[in-house]
Amino acid sequence: MDGNGRWAKRRHMPRVAGHRAGVAAVRSTVETAARIHIPALTLYAFSEENWKKRPKSEVGFLMGLLSRYLKAEVPTLNENNIRLEYIGRQQELPDDVQERMAWAREATARNSGMVLTLALNYSARSELVDAFRSMVNAAAQNGGIEHLHIDEDMVGRHLYTRNLPDPDLVVRTSGEMRLSNFLLWQLAYAEIWVTPTLWPDFRGLHLLEGIAEFQKRERRYGGLNHHESNHYESNGDGRALAHTPEASDAKS
Ligand code: FPP
Repeated sequence: MDGNGRWAKRRHMPRVAGHRAGVAAVRSTVETAARIHIPALTLYAFSEENWKKRPKSEVGFLMGLLSRYLKAEVPTLNENNIRLEYIGRQQELPDDVQERMAWAREATARNSGMVLTLALNYSARSELVDAFRSMVNAAAQNGGIEHLHIDEDMVGRHLYTRNLPDPDLVVRTSGEMRLSNFLLWQLAYAEIWVTPTLWPDFRGLHLLEGIAEFQKRERRYGGLNHHESNHYESNGDGRALAHTPEASDAKS
């Protein structure tokens, strides 16, 4: 959700005006995603770095905005059958915000549609650190560290996102080309779509545009594309391999 500050600056308004305007973008995006039956939408609302490096007044404003959003939006989330979740070090957020978050989660817990996850005080590196700690603790309580067998599934089970699918698509607003410490493990095979639109101007229609772009992509997960693998199968002797960049690399 990048570009709030720039949106405000262009209008000679304080940064917080951009954050306030960003709430309309949240509403529109969430509602559109739920209506087209996206199973899971995660919004990177507030990074650990934002929390540490922004002025206290801005952080306080964002906390208030989040609290008010949660209070106001629970009825709409329920109407749209949306279940609310969070990722990030929630325990470091102000107590009253944590209480409001817990209340909103509980109030939507019985919904069976889209899972809306808000990343709040989130850092992917901290998530990995927490996962490693959690794996070691679990092993210590289950016969000791020598029984620790780590594989990818196990790491996944100790991440904050253990109940979520890996994202298929990352939408980055305001033209930013970075991952900015967001879901580094989970985005291994995600498609990235970058739009110049600033977050406060972003709407459900932009999300649909991103999804349309995503549908044109061919996902190979390190394998061959559809045409190449068919050709390989039909030749049966591996001749088609010479046509793929991987094969050329392997030969050289
Ligand atoms: C990034 O823009 C945005 C944020 C740090 C905060 C986003 C929060 C909201 C839109 C509102 C509260 C959240 C919810 C879920 C209701 P930036 O300030 O880095 O702007 P810039 O990229 O132009 O500098």
